[in-house]
Amino acid sequence: MRRGRSRVIEKRVAIVTGASRGIGRAIAERLAKDGRHVVLVARSADGLAATETAIKAVGGSCEVRPCDMADFTAVQALIEGVAETHGRLDILVNNAGITRDTLLLRMTDEQWDEVLNVNLRSIFVACRAAIRPMMRGKFGRIVNIGSVSGLSGNSGQANYAAAKAGLVGFTKTIAKEMGAKGITANVVAPGFIETDMTHVLGDAVKTAFLQNIPVRRLGKPEEIAAAVAYVSSDEAGFLTSQTIVVDGGMTS
Ligand code: NAI
Repeated sequence: MRRGRSRVIEKRVAIVTGASRGIGRAIAERLAKDGRHVVLVARSADGLAATETAIKAVGGSCEVRPCDMADFTAVQALIEGVAETHGRLDILVNNAGITRDTLLLRMTDEQWDEVLNVNLRSIFVACRAAIRPMMRGKFGRIVNIGSVSGLSGNSGQANYAAAKAGLVGFTKTIAKEMGAKGITANVVAPGFIETDMTHVLGDAVKTAFLQNIPVRRLGKPEEIAAAVAYVSSDEAGFLTSQTIVVDGGMTS
């Protein structure tokens, strides 16, 4: 990226990964509603079309940039490309995530690597690339989407819980290294949210979980988006290094 390049766009530029559906789509729509220019990321442009249409239908600003988060070279190029095009990068929401659930006894190396690559290593690559343009802009908001599984562990999710727990230490470290540069880093950790990821769970599992959720319902993607909107706002400059748990009280 050219140094000292003037900003091409006035709005704060936000990248949201995994923006094709579920929590990522809700975050992208909310940030656009709040006046950000949102870069929508998922593996295919087709998958992002509905999010793009919804944002533009209400006068929001966004663009589509397909990227496979398991392709680290592409992730690096994505971040640098956004900063180059717009002359700025203000907000990075690392939301894309996958599960490959099975008990540890049966978990394969491939299942471990796949989840760690998409849910942790890609985020390391994205954050490392993002902090340079954020430092230049003397402003940055990094929001990593964790999970209550990373805080409490969860049977069948050794890979997923390890990745999400790793995200917490990683994020706290960014907060310490970058605090003086105007860059904050936080984790937003959802509990059970109504998305495709949880639709695959059987009714018996869901009913059992509801017993442990004080508000007695699953969360909505928009409720995670509201937390991300605040954490990534200009006024949240004193909020860093935190894990904000949005789980209806499940882990309290
Ligand atoms: P989802 O499965 O509905 O959507 C995941 C998104 O990530 C999709 O847009 C998908 O295209 C994208 N994605 C997956 N692999 C990708 C890759 N290799 N490259 C680019 N994009 C990729 O998931 P959901 O439920 O919306 O979850 C979003 C985040 O929230 C994830 O990080 C998940 O771990 C986390 N989370 C979700 C919870 C829930 O109850 N739904 C609970 C706790 C955390």
